[in-house]
Amino acid sequence: MYYAEEIVEEVRTRNDIVEVIGGYVRLQKKGSRYWGLCPFHNEKSPSFSVNGDMQVYHCFGCGAGGNVYTFMMNYENYSFPEAIRMLAERAGVALPQQDDSQEGRKRESRRARLLEVNKAAAKFFYFQLRSPHGEIGYRYLKKRELTDETMRKFGLGFAGKDGANLVKYLREKGFEDDLIQEAGLASHSEKYGLTSQFWNRVMYPIQDINNRVIGFGGRVMGEGEPKYLNSPETPVFDKRRNLYGLNYARRARSNNIILCEGYMDVIAMHQAGFGQAVASLGTAFTSEQAALLRRYAQTVLLAYDSDGAGVKAAVRAIGILREAGLSGKVINMQPYKDPDEFMKALGKEAFQERIGQAENSFFFEIRILEGQFDMNDPEEKTRFHREIARKLCEFSEDVERENYLQAVADKYFISKDNLRKLVTGYAASTGLAKPVERPKSGVRPKKNSPEENARRAQRLLISWLLDEPVLYGKVRKYISAEDFTEELYRKAAERLFRDMENGAPNPAAIISTFEDGEEQSQAAALFSASLPELGSGQEREKAFHEILLTVKRNSYEYHVAQMGTDVGALAQAIEGKKALEELARTHISLD
Ligand code: GTP
Ligand code: MN
Repeated sequence: MYYAEEIVEEVRTRNDIVEVIGGYVRLQKKGSRYWGLCPFHNEKSPSFSVNGDMQVYHCFGCGAGGNVYTFMMNYENYSFPEAIRMLAERAGVALPQQDDSQEGRKRESRRARLLEVNKAAAKFFYFQLRSPHGEIGYRYLKKRELTDETMRKFGLGFAGKDGANLVKYLREKGFEDDLIQEAGLASHSEKYGLTSQFWNRVMYPIQDINNRVIGFGGRVMGEGEPKYLNSPETPVFDKRRNLYGLNYARRARSNNIILCEGYMDVIAMHQAGFGQAVASLGTAFTSEQAALLRRYAQTVLLAYDSDGAGVKAAVRAIGILREAGLSGKVINMQPYKDPDEFMKALGKEAFQERIGQAENSFFFEIRILEGQFDMNDPEEKTRFHREIARKLCEFSEDVERENYLQAVADKYFISKDNLRKLVTGYAASTGLAKPVERPKSGVRPKKNSPEENARRAQRLLISWLLDEPVLYGKVRKYISAEDFTEELYRKAAERLFRDMENGAPNPAAIISTFEDGEEQSQAAALFSASLPELGSGQEREKAFHEILLTVKRNSYEYHVAQMGTDVGALAQAIEGKKALEELARTHISLD
């Protein structure tokens, strides 16, 4: 059932978020917000904030956030229709029985159709694998030591050599050609008409956490390029926000998640009893995926390939995990290439042992770093120590940094005092490890990466404008939604600026425009950034100006980088350059 935006808004505005959340969490008023212990993660001091003016909540500890709907859905595990029914009843609002919004129905039904066609295709592939046409696929999977039960559990299938069969089957089931194409299952050519995209491949259906087939990965038989062919992104297949195997892993009752590189690795791990294994979808691990994992575990064990590319990918993933507040560890797969091969050669007990020995991600990074320097050369050795100091600066909490400093000094036989001096020197020269303001709970160490700084400035700007809407009139000539380089922020800013033009900013309503819970949390974070506490008017003006410039500069750099591929970017970059120059000279008064 799809509810029109008006009714969604009415029900929301009739349920005050402070009252609703106050029924579940003890809240105390401090300043303009209410604070309490976060119900979504364990903590001893409150970092969970509820903002009555904006009708949003946000936890500075674990990043959970949203509006009153998000809260009910996350706290009570309600679906959206359940949440709106409950809240409507609470406020005495009668819900319409049938929705009349054409557009909403159309969008929903397109998504539903895409899921249906994927499901039908998965069925087709599944039966092909078990038919004479699919014998080579079946033999291949057997050779890779998969049991029939595993093949069934993961719904593995086969796309045969006749590319017309799938299309014929789907048409018979009543699916239209343009739907089949939009799902990425087939493509059209003058010569052959509509034919299957996947051809002579074993098929891995990719499921979302609700077990719906959202796309496919197909592995070629034998040698061939590409080795894996994945469905394109579609309205139901978002590669940044899904993980292969998570539909099973979320129920694995394990206190960790094992992150692998390949589908086959996940399957082999599950077959061996490690039901908490997941993999990204043929693309690099993303911060959205990290945020998703945070709902299910605190620790992520990396089981990436042991080759150079795998190590590089692991280093990257560690940064993303750390930024999301997850603790990462690295499983040593040597002398084997990946979990699948390891499992076949040494078996599950040996793997369990490796889990026990998994290396702390910081030490892993330092060890990889060590390999890049010649320790017999004093100059290189010094550079290595400086690099360690630089990495230590990424810990913004003093205690944590000091603990790591001591441990790493012991391990690499460096004098603690000297290392501390290097850290202080490095921090002073870059302004890095100044005690960064951060929540007491301390579960989300942040990296001072340029990307995160840019995102942070974007959040601060939006939150500041919401806090003092009159400022919008003063900056609107410099800033537009296009300056928000994070896609979700851009969408939210677009809507927010439109509302501000009409004089009625409504953050909680904007949250409702995001369907995905994780996106709602991110939008809530965007609206809830803690503004710097500054005394004098001059200080505040300087801070605001700085934030504005950071956003604009980042936008300019972003659009310059896009110029090669996007024609609109050139105009945006030129405009950005002008605005930047003007901004640098302009004083914006906050009075
Ligand atoms: P096999 O064991 O040889 O089946 O593969 P693997 O699971 O060891 O995969 P590999 O380490 O080669 O790659 C890991 C993951 O990267 C795969 O599961 C795919 O998701 C993805 N991948 C591999 N090759 C390709 C490719 O050619 N194109 C794309 N888009 N993704 C690929
Ligand atoms: Mn492999």
